[in-house]
Amino acid sequence: MIKPHGSEQLDARFIADSQERETLAKEAETLPALLLNSAAAANAVMLGAGYFNPLRGYMNLADAMSVAETLRTVDGLFWPVPILNLTNEPGIAEGSRIALRDPNVDGNPVMAVMDVESVESVTDEQLDFMAEKIFRTLDPQHPGVATFKSQGNTLVAGPIRVLSLSYFKSDFPDTFRTAVEIRDEIAQRGWNTVVAFQTRNPMHRAHEELCRMAMQDLNADGILIHMLLGKLKPGDIPADVRDASIRKMVDIYFPENTVMITGYGFDMLYAGPREAVLHAVFRQNCGCTHLIVGRDHAGVGDYYGGFDAQTIFDEEVPEGALELQIYRADHTAYSKKLDRVVMMRDAPDHEKDDFVLLSGTAVREMLGKGIAPPPEFSRPEVAQILMDYYQSIDG
Ligand code: ADX
Repeated sequence: MIKPHGSEQLDARFIADSQERETLAKEAETLPALLLNSAAAANAVMLGAGYFNPLRGYMNLADAMSVAETLRTVDGLFWPVPILNLTNEPGIAEGSRIALRDPNVDGNPVMAVMDVESVESVTDEQLDFMAEKIFRTLDPQHPGVATFKSQGNTLVAGPIRVLSLSYFKSDFPDTFRTAVEIRDEIAQRGWNTVVAFQTRNPMHRAHEELCRMAMQDLNADGILIHMLLGKLKPGDIPADVRDASIRKMVDIYFPENTVMITGYGFDMLYAGPREAVLHAVFRQNCGCTHLIVGRDHAGVGDYYGGFDAQTIFDEEVPEGALELQIYRADHTAYSKKLDRVVMMRDAPDHEKDDFVLLSGTAVREMLGKGIAPPPEFSRPEVAQILMDYYQSIDG
């Protein structure tokens, strides 16, 4: 199986041994506590679940600046996005051990214990420098920039040991998986070539067909549909609704034993190209050999060019930095001429009108009014689940 990123073995920071976990949880109750912000909590879940292997905890300022600028830590590890614990809380001591509390669960239980290696002040200029590199913009309207810059100016760095993977296992028992669990299941299924499909949306015909095309072109053993289960911007579709619609689609339209439906607990960054590289890193940690990167991957608004998330792999990911490869998808849509979903690059004789193209806003409006998008765009069973959802919030 493909090796994890940057190490021979996957080092998930979650303490698997229940006895050991209980002992540390007891100790945690006696430690000074820090209530994490949601982004830092999401990082703890990703570290705990093995997705951020080989990182052991939160980055210090030198690593964060280096990763933002060069996609490498000071020690040379390839890594695309700073993994930070930023706060405004005063009084955290270097060299201390602290308990990290979960902002997303009632009562703020301890989710991890951290050995604080450094506590550094970060200037607004340094935050801007990082934000500009990560998001390619400093526009405060960009949802990722706004979140990034609102987390505080104190950077608390050091390794963590994770006691809880937050609410993901209880809220999404069938879908949430750690990287360790995904690796194990891939091994158990005997799959070698495995294509990951990142998604934060329900899957329409184009998404479905992209998975099928990647599967065929790469002669893959299976597809890992890997959906984001953490926070999104307002207006995006909640995870349970996406999950239900994806399950329905796979159930009806994919052969048995070709798809694993899974999810991970991270908040969407909307960092386009940089996030695509992070997606690649953590899919390699899951044991996937390929990641589908299509149009405007992890993008938002008009901040990124349609295929910037592909070209970053040519321009900023050095040869050999990753073992996983990306599967590049062109804009994909239903062709009225050919009566099937195609990538536009495979239909050079087509005009725009030859495709069934609908904007996200148009689809949302239709669904809200209880009108199903055409079956060329959305499977009727998927459309029904989405219509029910929109009508439940609008009505
Ligand atoms: S993402 O933010 O998680 O990337 P989304 O769930 O919409 O958003 O997309 C999942 C994947 O499908 C991404 O790789 C994206 O580029 C790709 N994709 C979505 N729609 C299309 C399309 N019509 N044509 C080509 N690629 C697409």
